[in-house]
Amino acid sequence: MTPRTPTTTSAGAAGTSGMDGIAGGAEVAAATSAPGLALDRHVSAADRAVALARDVLTGLTANPRELPPKWFYDATGGMLFDEITKLPEYYPTRRERAILDSHASDIATACPADTLIELGSGTSEKTRLLLDALRAAGGLRRFVPFDVDESTLTQAGRSLIAAYPDLAVHAVVGDFERHLSHLPGGGRRLIAFLGGTIGNMQPAQRGGFLRALREQCGSTDALLLGTDLVKDPDRLVAAYDDGAGVTAAFNRNVLTVINRELGADFDIRGFAHVARWNAADSWIEMRLRAVRDQRVTIDSLALTVEFQRGEDLLTEISAKFTRDGITAELADAGWAVTQQWTDPEGDFAVTLATPSTAPAAAPV
Ligand code: AVJ
Repeated sequence: MTPRTPTTTSAGAAGTSGMDGIAGGAEVAAATSAPGLALDRHVSAADRAVALARDVLTGLTANPRELPPKWFYDATGGMLFDEITKLPEYYPTRRERAILDSHASDIATACPADTLIELGSGTSEKTRLLLDALRAAGGLRRFVPFDVDESTLTQAGRSLIAAYPDLAVHAVVGDFERHLSHLPGGGRRLIAFLGGTIGNMQPAQRGGFLRALREQCGSTDALLLGTDLVKDPDRLVAAYDDGAGVTAAFNRNVLTVINRELGADFDIRGFAHVARWNAADSWIEMRLRAVRDQRVTIDSLALTVEFQRGEDLLTEISAKFTRDGITAELADAGWAVTQQWTDPEGDFAVTLATPSTAPAAAPV
């Protein structure tokens, strides 16, 4: 796809001292309903619709069938994911928060950034630990939440503006696999990619992403990466197949999204939630398994798809890492690890890395 010209919008009240140089001049095109929030839009609703149609067409006609995990996250999916983070079985969120609780000030000392960029920021909840530490370190000026979902961004942005009145919040609606070159520049930037979301990418995709990010960064910028770690497969599977069935509902929600957005007629009850540990690839797989033969029609694509009983649709991979593996992948992409922290149980890792001076390995 050709890059689109971004639409930049900003509310009228954006001209407070903290907004200097961020939303000024001709870039400010229109008002949003969020006072004080500058917002760049690189992905419009129409772009999203086209991307979903393309992904569904490609994925449902592939063998084996698959869908990219990003389509889980409509309003319902976002709420279900929030619920997942509170489940007893789903440890990653709590472990990562524990690490940030203990080490946010170490992170801020190692990288006293004036700008915190958060990729896939979602509700920006853990972000506050980082914002507080950067503020205490003295130089914090702006926060750039970057997410594909505009409503999540404006909501999170609003509550952050209320809690941090001196902070310039410059939200960017974009796809972090396509719009990294649109990250606001200037100053010293800490780029956080938390939650283990990098595990949703295939290894080659991860490498490309980390290299692209490296290319956007200057020598004083840093990357803060959250990754889930390899552990007992029973615990891993339980985290993706909880007793309350929330993850199952989250998984099936992608079918509801396709029904609504593309006029499909998936029978949600016709698919069972499956979570399995793929040891060879070191990732959890979530699948939707047809419980009987069925035919699905997707009106917008003029497509009919037959599922046989027992046939799987792969909806997500969630890779699990080792500490050395993370360091090696980062090194391949031109990043040098500064520090790495885990929780006391060793379940999750947060890694701080800076652009390495040695040239990145050539892409394979
Ligand atoms: C938010 C992508 C990190 O992979 O663990 C949670 C999403 N999927 N339960 C993950 C998810 C199923 C989550 N990430």
